[in-house]
Amino acid sequence: MGGHAKNIRGVKLMVSLIFLVGVWATMIGSAGDAFAGEVERGKEVYNKYCTICHGGKGDGKGLVGIIHRVEKKGLTWTIYPRDLTVGTFKFRTTSTGCLPTDDDLTRTVTSGILRSGMPSHKDVTEKDRLAVLEYIKTFSIRWEEEDPCDPLSVKKPDWVGSASSVKKGEKVYKDMKCWECHGYEGMGDGPKSGELKDDWGDKILAFDFTAGTLKRGSSPENIYLTFATGLDGTGMPSYEDSLKEEDRWHLVSFTLKLMGLVQ
Ligand code: HEC
Ligand code: HEC
Repeated sequence: MGGHAKNIRGVKLMVSLIFLVGVWATMIGSAGDAFAGEVERGKEVYNKYCTICHGGKGDGKGLVGIIHRVEKKGLTWTIYPRDLTVGTFKFRTTSTGCLPTDDDLTRTVTSGILRSGMPSHKDVTEKDRLAVLEYIKTFSIRWEEEDPCDPLSVKKPDWVGSASSVKKGEKVYKDMKCWECHGYEGMGDGPKSGELKDDWGDKILAFDFTAGTLKRGSSPENIYLTFATGLDGTGMPSYEDSLKEEDRWHLVSFTLKLMGLVQ
């Protein structure tokens, strides 16, 4: 009798276990399906909005393979839509060498990249913008192999833009040899500027501070992030280790001055 009751209890336990495992597997399965669905949706969004420049394989060889841009001073040069298979990104809030965060990519896709030909996609729904990010991550193995790093914290001091900070920033600009690429007056014509190439082998010009907005936007915080994180792939270094935080903010003041945004 006792043995029989035990057997029934055993069977009941087995049935509940099988049931639980079943529920668990369905949950995992549907999470996986949902993700695959998002990537699939992202592919549709990509083909609609991005393929024309970045190419079907994400290698930057879309129909608009080459975008011509005319600068002040009569210079014309070519910019290539990014080859996303390399997995190197310029506009990050993370340290040099790191992958960008999802917020970084969302900002790039939403606002576009000024002065580069990459348009804003404010007209695309937020859901579709998030889906397209998951799809472009499938182009580079880095997204499978690495975890994104934490974003740097950016806290602008009150004195940024003050006359004394501009003066200190001017000294940092000289000492750190920014002028080698950006020129003594910040016009992008330093001694090294003629020979700069990016990681994709294309000619690249150092930013001309008198030519208008920064690619990532010209708020003091955006300028700070340029020095702190570097623009990976462009030769524009990160000064996270070589400059104290205070000096980076003085440099922001001097940059604002060169751009004519403060006195
Ligand atoms: C008209 C052409 C064009 C279209 C359309 C376009 N891009 Fe771009 N994109 C560019 C160019 C050019 C660059 C390189 C800009 C640079 O390096 O200065 C770029 C760069 C990027 C980058 C790299 C940003 C970084 O931090 O380095 C990402 C990510 C990107 N595009 C995603 C997209 C997505 C997603 C879409 C579609 C929703 C899209 N782009 C549509 C031209 C385009
Ligand atoms: C080895 C050359 C080199 C040096 C040194 C260098 N830069 Fe750059 N910098 C570049 C290049 C190239 C770009 C343009 C990248 C692009 O257009 O994608 C750039 C872009 C920038 C931008 C514009 C970013 C944007 O969003 O458009 C700022 C601001 C800047 N540099 C400031 C500085 C300052 C300040 C220093 C010194 C602390 C410095 N750079 C040192 C090469 C250099």
